[in-house]
Amino acid sequence: MKITSLTIDGLASGLVTDEAPRISFALGAEAPGENLQSAVIAVDGWSVETREQIGTVYAGPLKPFTEYLVRVTATGSSGDVAEAATSFRAGRLETPWSGQWITDRAYETPKKQSPVPMSFRKTFVVGAGLRRAWLEATALGVYELELNGAKVGADYFAPGFTSYENQIQYQTYDLDGLGDGENTLTATVAGGWAVGSYTHKRKNKIYADRQAFLCELHLEYADGTVEVIATGPDWQVSTDGPFRMAEWYDGETYDATVAQESQSWKQADTAAPRGTPRIVAQYGSPVRAQQVMHPVAHSVAASGELIFDFGQNFAGVVSAIVRGKRGQTVTFRHAEVLVDGELFVKSLRTAKATATYTCVEGEQTYSPRLTYMGFRYVGVSGITAEDLDLTALVVHSDLAETGSFTSSDPLINALQSAIQWGGRSNFVDIPTDCPQRDEREGWTGDYAVFATTASYNFDMSRFMRKWLRDLKSEQSPGGGIPMVVPRAGNGFPVMATSCWGDVCVLAPWAEYLARGDLGLLRDQYETMTKFLGAASWWSGLFSVTKNARRIWRFPFHFGDWTAPDGAVRDWLAKGKWIGTAYFANSCGIVADIADLLGNPGDAARYRALREEIIVAYRAKFTDGNGLLAKEFQTGYVLPLHFGMTSGAETDQMADNLVRLIDDADGHLATGFPGTPYILFALSDNGRVDDAFRLLQQTSSPSWLYMVESGGTTIWERWDALRPDGTVNTSSLTAGGGDDSSDGGMVSFNHYAAGAVGDWLYRRVAGIEPIEGGYRSFRVAPLMGGGLASARGSVTTPYGQASSDWSVADGVFTLAVEVPVSTSCTIVLPDGTEHVRTSGRHEFQCEFVAA
Ligand code: BGC
Repeated sequence: MKITSLTIDGLASGLVTDEAPRISFALGAEAPGENLQSAVIAVDGWSVETREQIGTVYAGPLKPFTEYLVRVTATGSSGDVAEAATSFRAGRLETPWSGQWITDRAYETPKKQSPVPMSFRKTFVVGAGLRRAWLEATALGVYELELNGAKVGADYFAPGFTSYENQIQYQTYDLDGLGDGENTLTATVAGGWAVGSYTHKRKNKIYADRQAFLCELHLEYADGTVEVIATGPDWQVSTDGPFRMAEWYDGETYDATVAQESQSWKQADTAAPRGTPRIVAQYGSPVRAQQVMHPVAHSVAASGELIFDFGQNFAGVVSAIVRGKRGQTVTFRHAEVLVDGELFVKSLRTAKATATYTCVEGEQTYSPRLTYMGFRYVGVSGITAEDLDLTALVVHSDLAETGSFTSSDPLINALQSAIQWGGRSNFVDIPTDCPQRDEREGWTGDYAVFATTASYNFDMSRFMRKWLRDLKSEQSPGGGIPMVVPRAGNGFPVMATSCWGDVCVLAPWAEYLARGDLGLLRDQYETMTKFLGAASWWSGLFSVTKNARRIWRFPFHFGDWTAPDGAVRDWLAKGKWIGTAYFANSCGIVADIADLLGNPGDAARYRALREEIIVAYRAKFTDGNGLLAKEFQTGYVLPLHFGMTSGAETDQMADNLVRLIDDADGHLATGFPGTPYILFALSDNGRVDDAFRLLQQTSSPSWLYMVESGGTTIWERWDALRPDGTVNTSSLTAGGGDDSSDGGMVSFNHYAAGAVGDWLYRRVAGIEPIEGGYRSFRVAPLMGGGLASARGSVTTPYGQASSDWSVADGVFTLAVEVPVSTSCTIVLPDGTEHVRTSGRHEFQCEFVAA
């Protein structure tokens, strides 16, 4: 037996924390059926004996800046013993900062624009006998550090995007390159989310009037002395550095001819953030460059622009080797699609998404560092193709990829790839709606529907822990959830609204099922119950009868957002059906969570409430026999998938849903709230063929239409690119076809509709958790659509779980991997059930396609 992974707060190494960390480990074993018997987790003098592999909280003392060794000794049911060790470091904990926030108080951020990046610097002398050097830093804005001209660390956009009035992360960097004598530390701070222009209204100064920087550098010498060099008025500030402009939407302007010596430096002023945010050691995942992309084609557009095609839509930055002349300016524009061979940028709305670089003489490299773009194509001007080697960096939060899905159908595989790229492109410190236009906000509804798919494909644990902390901080006292988190200047009032607000239940629940950490549910429980309280209150408002009091109409619902037929008013008009169904569903989930947290009273209360909502839904919206008074696909999908019907009524609803799909010529017609569940609603109610028919539909609206039309990520509108090759830039209010002059609402990289990925794992590969973290799980593959094989594999917190099946000559073959300490119930197409513990297991049975 071996310990195959040992993580502290989700990291195998390098954790610096201000909070009691949670320790988890996975085991691997040659012998089948191995199971953890007991483990001793020791941290310094503290130790605990446990049978749990996930989320043991270190309850010993923590001293600032101290390294802790963690040792796990695990004994298996076979008597085998395995050991592993790692370490973590305590951060500042409650140590007061001796550094002060610094800024340039004379600088006025221009109206509606982003501020010019500010640089701060300090030259300091290092004496002989340095043993260790590290720094902690944070900013209002986004910062990048250089030590003697070399970048410190690999992060982009530190300190990350949080609800700044509540919490700001600080980063810890070890400084290994410090030499004796003079060293210079420089920080460039762009406006970022705190000061820069943000939201489609392009507000600025949302959290601060101008950038500010806070840092403490610790020099620890062999003789035990520690010197602290901290930000204060003895630092210098400048606003005329090489970064001339940097912001989310317009991009970056960098002038390499500006040398530090020629900048005008002056004494920095001290500053203070608004309010009293907690400044906490980074607990989210850092944003990093994750891979290099190479162009797959290039051309010259009629306009003369050099066009590079990276073959994949993604979020990131160009990375260029330029052979230039001093003062030569090279411009890089970005777009998701080409129309008539030219970059199509209208859909970016006001975002200029342009990087402009002014050269020094000779060969040099340039890559933006204080912004990112969403693109597949780059248009370059100001240089010849011979003088440019262009690649690009994919930039997103550091999330381990934990899932893979493949099948015998290349189009479905292309869809899975587009789904994963949708995640990579939109997990840039917060879950964004899209990475390209003047938006990129943490819209809650988008993540609400994508949460389970996200948790299959990526280890979201640190990322979600961070975002959900902000969600909790920004919940209104009455239980409302902001429609974007962090709210950051978004104009919508904070109120309880369905699907978008339900993210406070759906996201932690998806995360718990995937990773098994009850701690997250505990942290978020109150937020969920307050939200349900708000939904209940609004449902009761102006309602007299018992049933009416359970229909959730007010104050506002996005309804069937982005449904293919109709415009925004039609989507919103579906609000009460969708709101009421989501309300019932969240009550059911919170009841299960209450049980897990040992709160049977709450569990019973939410189950009873769920029943009342279901009764009301049926009484108010259906004829009692499964026919909706107002028929629409999502209207059937939700009660079917949320288990709100039974017996013949279920059958009738499923029939009605199929009829609506047939009426739409075999197409779906669902918006955000229905799309994740439509295939479940069909396949789990005996309509497997109809589910595969929808999945494999290739004309619009459908998933595979996107893929067949060249989409490499998931689109916001089902027909973002119309069959005639035009882009659907209809405005939010127009009913399609009606292209608006301002770019309308169309993105080629919105992950929400990619929520179908959940069905690929859970039904086609058939792999799904029963207990949190897959401690027990099911493998029950679903055959159909002419698929000859499929494989789904998930890195669970206990290890690798997978389902790998194929059908040939009437024989179904399945191989299943079951991690140590888990058990799996396998359901074969012949209906037989088999329970297996850890190891690799093979099954065969007869299979005759219907
Ligand atoms: C965003 C969506 C979001 C919606 C809500 C849009 O502009 O891009 O994804 O959920 O607004 O209104």
